[in-house]
Amino acid sequence: MNRNMRHFAIIGVLVIIGALVMDKLLIAVLPLPTPSSAQAEGVDFLFRLHMGLISFFFSLIVVFVIYSIVVFRARKGDEGDGEYIHGHTTLEIVWTVVPLIIVIYLGFLGTKVLGEVTQAQPDEKVIQVTGFQWGWRFEYPEEGITSTTLVLPKDQPIRLEMQSEDVIHSFFIPEFRVKQDLVPGHVTTLRITPTKEGGFVLRCAELCGTRHAYMLADVQVLERADYDAWVAEQTAQAELPPAELGAKIAQTQGCQGCHSLDGSPSAGPTWKGLFGREETLADGSTVVVDEEYLRESILHPQAKVVEGFQPIMPTNYGEKLSNEEINAIIEFIKTLQ
Ligand code: CUA
Repeated sequence: MNRNMRHFAIIGVLVIIGALVMDKLLIAVLPLPTPSSAQAEGVDFLFRLHMGLISFFFSLIVVFVIYSIVVFRARKGDEGDGEYIHGHTTLEIVWTVVPLIIVIYLGFLGTKVLGEVTQAQPDEKVIQVTGFQWGWRFEYPEEGITSTTLVLPKDQPIRLEMQSEDVIHSFFIPEFRVKQDLVPGHVTTLRITPTKEGGFVLRCAELCGTRHAYMLADVQVLERADYDAWVAEQTAQAELPPAELGAKIAQTQGCQGCHSLDGSPSAGPTWKGLFGREETLADGSTVVVDEEYLRESILHPQAKVVEGFQPIMPTNYGEKLSNEEINAIIEFIKTLQ
């Protein structure tokens, strides 16, 4: 073996060791949450493949650089210039063509996996998702249920039809891997087949305003029998006394995204002790909170804004809520003393 071949052999071994160490390190510092959907498999395969390639090329470059610095350094008393090398056609073709092939192949794999995770499934169950500043609402057209928790039957292909009421939000459950924006004025679709029972957290993955970080929703994946029991329980709640109905509407409308129930500060005034309280308004005048003021504040939230708060409450509750529902919410607020 001549001297050049020996250098290359040593470098080859070091590159492989470096790549393996780097790969282990990346997986250790960037762990993926437990994959919990049928769609996760393809995404994780791509992710691992990229981590492997990143580790290999990192090692390839760093090993060459460090090896050259250490082994070919100028010795004491060596004042001469280094050997002048100009061009190397074979090497240049290799380092152009090889990455080109890799990138084209990755593009092919990416397209294939994207096709798989977005493909229509047989027996899809449709759930309508609404995102708003700052919360989530889920409607089950088949069952006639509205919920703030996303409850899914395990191993059931789901098609989410998603809409935004205001700005761009993004639907992301890390364990399910797939992610999709909610765009105002459009219906976007996301397909999920949950494969693991348990609780997850849906988070908004698009910066959407001051409470973006709190735009979360609970996700429950249940066995079919438990899911059916949940549906029955939700249906039974339809006949409720006004205050309890109000609490439920407040929940499905996401009122507590801005109005706390326990007196803690938020984007809007707390509902605790609100009824009967004297509020100072932005213009310095005062108002005693009664049914009339509450109704006005739901229908025309900008009319009398309480001092210290921004006029950010959506103004479309008159379109979304019936008179009966607004009365139910007022009854609910009355109970929060
Ligand atoms: Cu919605 Cu961030």
